[in-house]
Amino acid sequence: MPARIDTAVGAAHTQMLGLGVYRPERIVPNSEIVGPIDSSDEWIQTRSGIRARRFASGGRGSADPESVIGMATEAGRRALAASNLDADQIGAVVLATSSQMVLGPSAGAVVATNLGMSDTAAFDVSAGCAGFCYALANASHMVRAGIAQYVLVIGVERLTDLLDPTDRSCAFIFADGAGAVVVGPSEEEGIGPVAWGSDGSQTAAIKQDKDFQEFFAEVAEKGAEAGRPFIRMQGTAVFRWAATFLEKACRDALDKAGVSAEDLDVFVPHQANSRITDALVRVLKMPENVVVAKDIAEAGNTSAASIPLAMDQVLRTGGAQPGDTALLMGFGAGLAYAGQVVRLPRIAE
Ligand code: UT7
Repeated sequence: MPARIDTAVGAAHTQMLGLGVYRPERIVPNSEIVGPIDSSDEWIQTRSGIRARRFASGGRGSADPESVIGMATEAGRRALAASNLDADQIGAVVLATSSQMVLGPSAGAVVATNLGMSDTAAFDVSAGCAGFCYALANASHMVRAGIAQYVLVIGVERLTDLLDPTDRSCAFIFADGAGAVVVGPSEEEGIGPVAWGSDGSQTAAIKQDKDFQEFFAEVAEKGAEAGRPFIRMQGTAVFRWAATFLEKACRDALDKAGVSAEDLDVFVPHQANSRITDALVRVLKMPENVVVAKDIAEAGNTSAASIPLAMDQVLRTGGAQPGDTALLMGFGAGLAYAGQVVRLPRIAE
């Protein structure tokens, strides 16, 4: 007889307990971006809703406060404080990013140690702008499966390291920041089933334009003239996909949670373009009293960090309350999407 393998038993329900964010100090208005892309403040505001964004300063090293590791550590610290938990109560760290430009170690492992954790499971998730919702689903599943009681989820980006200031599709959109939540057990459901998917046939729509091998081949050939890797986006193609396909993704997340648009208090889509947000609000027939996150106006598009940053914005200034019912929907490179109906967490003071 083979030995019986025990099954871990977890919580019936999960929730986001507390939220912490880090917004880089440096505010960059449209006027600082427009020159190299021959644009204007008016064009950027009308076509994307962006008035300003935050750019990280200083080095990329793990001791630098506005590196991927530095911003993620600070957001994580604030999420722990908002959750009234200590670092040693966290059973796993799941960190979503597309801009930690080393293959190893995982940023999650370094952040866990920075926060004072020891021997804690930690890993990174690469799912572009859908990364935070992918990580949130994984964290919730871990708590339900009984393999961690509390999981720290972080979305963090330093996209300025991948930004070509002369690229008219990307230079004014992408930006930097970090947001984190702690997921833990709950009396009632606080994180609904995830609706998620991907379409690898559309990788060209948003991608890094060269990989390490191509970059080093170019360095060998051109020396200092070699161009570093940049993020590239076929803006119109992504816009069309987002404004049409994502209606189904949002309805799927609502159906899975047994919730209708009328039951929502808050809508927190990925902050890609305020026109995409407006299109989704329209096709989903969201009632007028639903609070809609518009953090993009001051934060730009921070990819995996955008949903926790936008939750912070609606909780701090948008009229939403902890415990409100919200639909989250992340989408982007992959092309990939993930979203779920949640109850909003507490925020750090
Ligand atoms: O986070 C991941 C997911 N990302 C997204 O969801 C982003 C989706 N895409 C978008 O948000 C939009 O496609 C952009 C904001 C990137 C671009 O807006 P658009 O309305 O799709 O612009 P377009 O590329 O169709 O260009 C329209 C016009 C063109 O001029 P003509 O041919 O109509 O005379 C462009 O040459 O706007 C011109 N244009 C610009 N003008 C000033 C394009 N880029 C710029 C610019 N500044 N930066």
